[in-house]
Amino acid sequence: MLTIGHRGAKGYEPENTLLSFKKALDLGATAIELDVHLCASGELVVIHDFTVDRTTNGTGGVDQLTLTEIKALSVEGKTVVPTLEEVLDFVDRRCLVNIELKGEHTAKAVTEVMAGYVNSKGWSYDDFLVSSFQKEELDTTFKLNPKIHLGVLTQASVGQALYAADKLAAKAIHPHYGLLTAENVKSAQKKGYKVFTWTVNEPAVIARIKSYGVDGIISDYPDRI
Ligand code: G3P
Ligand code: CA
Repeated sequence: MLTIGHRGAKGYEPENTLLSFKKALDLGATAIELDVHLCASGELVVIHDFTVDRTTNGTGGVDQLTLTEIKALSVEGKTVVPTLEEVLDFVDRRCLVNIELKGEHTAKAVTEVMAGYVNSKGWSYDDFLVSSFQKEELDTTFKLNPKIHLGVLTQASVGQALYAADKLAAKAIHPHYGLLTAENVKSAQKKGYKVFTWTVNEPAVIARIKSYGVDGIISDYPDRI
């Protein structure tokens, strides 16, 4: 079972930063989850929201700011917003990287970055998992490169995720933990899908979700998994 650090180790360090990804690895995470958006100058930046307002000292839409402008912003006075490539270079294949396509039109850029790491930096497609709530982005990713492992994120139902996973040739479903039962986890796995669930932080809930036999748990506190 994978221990997947949510936005790194969001419970301990500023989310989606190199400090957070380092913390997740230090705490024993076997995977990290991160969110990507395209900024105005075309690079993929690792940030959750569509604006920089909540997580940096700046304001504005990520897609309205250039990388230079985003790099000038401070995250909690201790670090900066990383690019996807900076995170991959930092990780250096030490764990699986779950890239969530959060921003629109991110599929093509992510596919290109991944191909670069697979073709020239010794990475394999098994080192990555691309997930999204946006079916269109997953569909584009599959059409651009069917070797990429896809996961369907859902807050709606396991059944809906399975239906979408079948249509999109996804390898995994990523339902919110509140949707899971021992039965629907087993049933999804029998159909050949991995089940990765989020965001599970409380020890009693972690124990219950583990007992369902899921393939991975996404947590702000990877050490608790
Ligand atoms: O990938 C699981 C989880 O991160 C999805 O929700 O809002 O944290 O991106 P959110
Ligand atoms: Ca996410």
